[in-house]
Amino acid sequence: MRYGYFDDEHREYVITRPDTPLPWLNYLGTDAYVGIISNTAGGYSCYRDARLRRLTRYRYNGVPTDSGGRYLYLRDNRSGEYWSPSWQPTRCDLDSYECRHGLSYTRISSARLGVRAETLYFVPPGETLEVWRLRVRNERGGPADLSVFSSVEFCLWDAQDDATNFQRNYSTGEVEVDGGVIYHKTEYRERRDHFAYFACSEPLAGFDTQREEFLGAYRGWDRPLAVERGESANSVAHGWAPHGSHHVRFLLAPGETKEVIFLLGYWENPREAKFDPPGSQILNKALVRPVIDRWLRPETVAEGFRQLRESWSSRLSVLQVGTPDQDTNRMVNIWNPYQCMVTFAMSRSVSLFESGISRGIGFRDSCQDLLGFVQLAPGRARARILDLAATQLASGGAYHQYQPLTKTGNDAIGSGFNDDPLWLVLGVAAYLKETGDEAILDEPVPYADAADVRPPLQEHLERSLRYTLDRLGPHQLPLIGRADWNDCLNLNCFSAEPGQSFQTTENVAGDTAESVFIGGLFVLAAREYAPIAERRGQAAEAGYYRAEAEKMAGVIAEHGWDGAWFRRAYDHSGRPVGSAADDEGQIFIEPQGICVMSGVGIDDGMAVRALDSVRERLATGHGIVLLQPAYTRYHLELGEISSYPPGYKENGSVFCHTNPWVMIAEAMAGRGDAAFGYYQRINPSAREEISDVHRCEPYVYAQMIAGRDAPAQGEAKNSWLTGTAAWNLVAITQWILGIRAELDGLRVDPVLPAAWPGFTATRRFRGATYQISVRNPGTRITHLEVDGRRIEGTLVPLAPPGATVHVTAGGQGQG
Ligand code: GLC
Ligand code: GLC
Repeated sequence: MRYGYFDDEHREYVITRPDTPLPWLNYLGTDAYVGIISNTAGGYSCYRDARLRRLTRYRYNGVPTDSGGRYLYLRDNRSGEYWSPSWQPTRCDLDSYECRHGLSYTRISSARLGVRAETLYFVPPGETLEVWRLRVRNERGGPADLSVFSSVEFCLWDAQDDATNFQRNYSTGEVEVDGGVIYHKTEYRERRDHFAYFACSEPLAGFDTQREEFLGAYRGWDRPLAVERGESANSVAHGWAPHGSHHVRFLLAPGETKEVIFLLGYWENPREAKFDPPGSQILNKALVRPVIDRWLRPETVAEGFRQLRESWSSRLSVLQVGTPDQDTNRMVNIWNPYQCMVTFAMSRSVSLFESGISRGIGFRDSCQDLLGFVQLAPGRARARILDLAATQLASGGAYHQYQPLTKTGNDAIGSGFNDDPLWLVLGVAAYLKETGDEAILDEPVPYADAADVRPPLQEHLERSLRYTLDRLGPHQLPLIGRADWNDCLNLNCFSAEPGQSFQTTENVAGDTAESVFIGGLFVLAAREYAPIAERRGQAAEAGYYRAEAEKMAGVIAEHGWDGAWFRRAYDHSGRPVGSAADDEGQIFIEPQGICVMSGVGIDDGMAVRALDSVRERLATGHGIVLLQPAYTRYHLELGEISSYPPGYKENGSVFCHTNPWVMIAEAMAGRGDAAFGYYQRINPSAREEISDVHRCEPYVYAQMIAGRDAPAQGEAKNSWLTGTAAWNLVAITQWILGIRAELDGLRVDPVLPAAWPGFTATRRFRGATYQISVRNPGTRITHLEVDGRRIEGTLVPLAPPGATVHVTAGGQGQG
């Protein structure tokens, strides 16, 4: 069953009923000012940091679900009837309803009682504000006397404190109302130089800024007293819960449309110009007011929206493909890069499942996000790489997370996840391949615990690799530390205390538990690093890391192979994890994917054997599960992984992030049908028709789909912010379609499903445009035609900027 449809031409997903199984989200803004918005206008906004600079409130885990948002109420002043044009929060029946989630904007339209309303929500590029453009049209035979009430609930900036510290917060809230604009200025008197504003383009019939005055005592957003009464209280908040509501009244003739613009924004004043007049406690509005006035004009809004759409068209033009599969086309051309951009921007902070409080920017998460993002905005990728590297420690280890506002490492989590630093090598390699910007390797970047030394970025990469080599265990495999990619495989945490953190508790010595996964990741990273060092004239260094990769590959073959698949790890007592000798958790997906990707076992048949085991034991109709059999009881020696009920999260769900590793591995093994088959199983667009089972948004990947051991098999959770976005884009575009940026050119090496006749693609790469046309030869491509000339192999040499290059593969005359 579906709840809407894809409108590929407009790059929108159109939701046709408000009661989707879960709130289906979109994101406004991908830079400093960002927010989430659901299909019924729920959500919140923040500036740079969802924990430290939260503008508005949202009630996670509230009932009814998705409570708190960018609400508008329409009221018929004759009858007194009122409703929400976005359905929530009044949930009155609507005669029509449609939500169009587009790229960084959402448009919700509905009709009731002969009144049509359409609200467009977006953040104009480069601004720290969001626009709500409401259009109300009278479709009745006679005139309509209408009111509009707006409503946002301000957060007192620090979202964690806001949700817990009531003894203080009920007494700190402050606002000003001036010239129709509501300014939320809690703590501005003291150490904050920033405030929020909520403005409206129309003369006001009234306003409210004290939540309970607007709602009335013991009432919710569904029945605000001010709206019921048709009159605001003109309240000015002092303490309690600062809120913003405008009341606009107008009469519409039959067929007439009224446009009302609301702005919700964030502003920082220079510290020395905080107050006006100086010495007073009155907010200086002189700097923000021109911005407000400009954006309250319909022409500015229209132009801002045009620019937003154009910025997406240009970003997406980096790669456009035409394949025989519609689900592939729309994910590759529209939604998957969009999700990559959002995921890059938000890391794992703001979604329906991430509260914005507990996690900032994840080190391994962001390094992997880069893999799917780097081609979309290389400048931002560069800046992120340098930020990430600056949270690395002199040991080569890294802070697991950092706060986006302060860019400092999170001490509560600390470091010691031994895979973390290796991902930096992969992220930087992807950036170099895309841009050729080798100068980044010379950028001086401090270590988080040694700010006075600022070695070049390249040294950070080297330390990342050495970090692994400095920490080898009894089998010469890498020590796992707190966890590797799998946060829940906590082999040094023997926790019997409820509530103890599995990730930060280390109560046994960490000198035995080893990770085969990190071994594979090391081989991959070292093999990425060697050619980079070589280009810098460091042949000895390149040779060293090639040799170490070779050595590690040998260790994996010797101690990481279980007979039919790669083992996962060795636990604290030296027992293999992920072995046929166990009764649960015999086989894990991660090492099968990563070891084959790194080239281990390709020549001696282990790779193909491991992939066959994946197909036999882990593949399901809903995707490849993380492990089998799922753990049915708690294993003290394994940590969080066995804390989840079977089939969920790391305990045997389809943890979608890992599936593309197997797709890539299958493509490397030349098996296009297998690779693409796995791709299709978790492609959200291909799952659209089972939306009632899948339940999450059909236009973006979710972190997990409940596995075969769970009662709700097939149900997705944790949508939007997941490494799944980047890895799937990499798998389909770089390995199945085979178009990959390399240091010396563009690789065109597709491994297609047998049924495909071929495909076409346009790729912008280092200033040139490559028109690619592939006819499926049914085998590996051995040569290309580049502008009519035959080239042996599959690497298209770099063309000069501005050039258009025609590449054909698999034979002539295709298209
Ligand atoms: C989550 C984390 C990621 C981790 C994965 C597996 O997605 O964000 O860092 O690798 O879970 O545990
Ligand atoms: C839990 C989750 C895992 C996530 C981690 C983040 O362990 O299962 O997916 O990465 O929390 O701290």
